[in-house]
Amino acid sequence: MRILVVASAFNSLAQRVFAELGDRGHTTSVAVVDGTPSLCAAVRRHRPELVVAPMLTTAIPREVFSRHTCLIVHPGPPGDRGPASLDRALTDGEVRWGVTVLQAEEELDAGPVWASAGFAVPPGVTKSELYRGEVADAAVAALLLAVERFASRSWTPRAQTGFPVRTRPWLPQGERRIDWAAQPTESVLRTLRAADSQPGVRDELLGGEWFLHGGHGEDRLRGRPGAVLATRAGAICRATADGAVWIPQLRRCRSGDGPRGIKLPAVTALGDALPAVPDVPAPLELPAHRETWSDIRYTERGEVGFVRFRFPGGAMSAVQCRRLLNAYRFACRRPTSVIVLGGERDFFSNGIDLNVIEAAADPAEESWANINAMDDLVEAVLTTTDRLVVAAVAGNAAAGGAMLALAADEVWCRAGTVVNPHYRLMGLYGSEYWTYTLPRRVGAARAATLMAEAAPVSAARARALGLVDRIVPGPAQEFAGAVTRMAADLIGECDVHLRIAVKKAARERDESLKPLAAYRAEELERMRAVFFSPDAPYHALRSAFVRKRPPGDTAERFDALSRLPRQDMHIAGKEAVCEF
Ligand code: COA
Repeated sequence: MRILVVASAFNSLAQRVFAELGDRGHTTSVAVVDGTPSLCAAVRRHRPELVVAPMLTTAIPREVFSRHTCLIVHPGPPGDRGPASLDRALTDGEVRWGVTVLQAEEELDAGPVWASAGFAVPPGVTKSELYRGEVADAAVAALLLAVERFASRSWTPRAQTGFPVRTRPWLPQGERRIDWAAQPTESVLRTLRAADSQPGVRDELLGGEWFLHGGHGEDRLRGRPGAVLATRAGAICRATADGAVWIPQLRRCRSGDGPRGIKLPAVTALGDALPAVPDVPAPLELPAHRETWSDIRYTERGEVGFVRFRFPGGAMSAVQCRRLLNAYRFACRRPTSVIVLGGERDFFSNGIDLNVIEAAADPAEESWANINAMDDLVEAVLTTTDRLVVAAVAGNAAAGGAMLALAADEVWCRAGTVVNPHYRLMGLYGSEYWTYTLPRRVGAARAATLMAEAAPVSAARARALGLVDRIVPGPAQEFAGAVTRMAADLIGECDVHLRIAVKKAARERDESLKPLAAYRAEELERMRAVFFSPDAPYHALRSAFVRKRPPGDTAERFDALSRLPRQDMHIAGKEAVCEF
């Protein structure tokens, strides 16, 4: 079928829908639209048999829905209506929730139901984690079923008259407000989690107006409610009525129509406004009974060491890369034979931290520092020859983050994951030793195609291409447990020591053919030219990305993309040309 995916942003869900419909043989196009005119124009241009809208903030006009069947994904169970379904579900403490695929009609969310799917809401999950995990799984399952039903031409969608209708309004900042003196930790966390990653919770802090992003419990630190008690790894700890919470990121609240603030590590954002409070180091190994926040952890089970990391938005700043490298080196000194590298659920990594770079006094220097720190980490993984390394990809991985995974000996990927193994959309050539690892896995020609197409790849296709070795089925919440079992089985299943010896020999052979340092030097030469050239499209693309400019305002982004040069890529001695 010819299907048009319309979306307000080509976000993780839109990417996954696009990739999974393509996997099933449909001819799928995407239109990122910013209002009725662009939506109508896209539909006229593509003449689809079916329109699907996995994430659309614009109402579909009569001109479109009267001529085409349009399937809308609503992140709520049948009968639920309104623009803040997930925010309200988490605020109200729902333990089960759902997704409905309905047909667009005049009244929003009121059309007949083509399919729906339900799921359990895991305790302590944030809105964006839920969206990229359980909601995305349910949305894709329901949408694929709806597409199948539509294709059968014999299925009639069900009117909503049979469902209890509940229309709930937008959740304004006034209702999200935190009363630090009165609210206990549990309630503060629920408020913060329901606002993650957008819009955040607006609050007054140290004389400024900020949006607070992210929230994690703290079991020991105590103080005057609302006060900043400590810092850790760029986050701040604030006292609640009965305890304290960690807040990793802040975004400055601009007055009027000033430029949108950028989300930054809280300590960086506050700068000199931060009072002198203790910096409490992040515990790498945390006893099971402790409840506190740290973005990098190490645990061990028998012969397997787990280096777990979790960075907001999957972005890894220079500082975070260095801290992760230290944790990785620690893991390499332990008496294990397998290291599992990756988070428990949600993003694996989205590469260098574009927000921190954008906010830096010298973005070119910060880009340079970040890519070098990332390369150091990847190099450490590539040169680990005394044990096996598994990349556990619980959630999406993109650009340098995808290449970090490819440095491991095995890549295990959750079934719902989307991989973006390319850099082109940010105007970058890329580093992270991708010119060594990507062709090693998929061959030179396919590596060039992946880079040139710059398209999202589903986990299933990634497996078929050889980017991924094993698919981990099941919901996001069960990923960590499944990986723990698989790692234990790996020890029993194969002769790990033989595999380590084979791997060591292969690395030595590859090094004698072309040293890793040469791959790095060639990649970094290209990256340096981009970073330190103010006219390079990367700077405009980055600026648009971090400010989340809607497509209508991103003339400079598209202009920058169209100016991206035709670029030769030298891959493993062969040459492939990639039309940027
Ligand atoms: N630097 C800073 N922030 C990043 C980031 C990066 N490299 N990658 C993602 N983020 C942020 C997003 O801005 C978003 O912020 P929000 O929570 O304030 O909305 C959050 O992380 C989640 O990202 P989002 O884009 O909503 O996730 P997605 O799963 O829908 O899309 C990508 C994933 C990979 C398509 C998209 O995030 C992307 O293009 N990232 C940039 C990749 C890149 O070019 N990295 C640099 C080169 S190594």
